[in-house]
Amino acid sequence: MNISIVIHTSSGHTLKFAQAIREKLVSLGHEVDLTGLRTLGTVNAGLLPLARVNFTIKNPPELQDFDVVLIGGPVWGFKASPVIMRYLIEDVQNLKGKRALSFVTMGGAGGGRALRMMNGELEAAGAEVLEGEALKYFIKPNVLKLEAAVERICGQVCVA
Ligand SMILES: Cc1cc2nc3c(=O)[nH]c(=O)nc-3n(C[C@H](O)[C@H](O)[C@H](O)COP(=O)(O)O)c2cc1C
Repeated sequence: MNISIVIHTSSGHTLKFAQAIREKLVSLGHEVDLTGLRTLGTVNAGLLPLARVNFTIKNPPELQDFDVVLIGGPVWGFKASPVIMRYLIEDVQNLKGKRALSFVTMGGAGGGRALRMMNGELEAAGAEVLEGEALKYFIKPNVLKLEAAVERICGQVCVA
């Protein structure tokens, strides 16, 4: 299968998670494209009154050619990454016939809400949404939990 992984990462945690997912999928024979969204402007967390999210996304990938789409980002202010949400809302319109899965990394809490926000947009675009993963990642991840999350993701993705 042709699989796209699109992420936003600030300190690299989501990138590490995405790389582990990619490595596993490639080992299973899939073609995997991993894109980190790059931004121009100010991306400041969605921390209520101080939120400053005046940015554009420089490299929004087109998803048309992929069978499965994985979208990942950090939890910010108990919500999904504003960069990921902007990408999903503005750049992702038609996912009919594709499966999609969200994954997030977080210090402690807010993963469920972030996944619901991302899944809502994926559903609105017509994707069949698979069960997402929220991974605690404080300085380092728990390696066993990371591996288990990667297994669950790949298990769902690899069902033809
Ligand atoms: C501005 C900001 C807000 C955050 N808000 C939360 C939060 O609400 N809940 C949480 O569990 N972690 C929160 N975190 C921690 C990040 O979600 C966590 O470190 C994540 O793994 C970072 O991923 P990244 O390195 O891919 O950017 C926050 C981090 C930042 C920088």
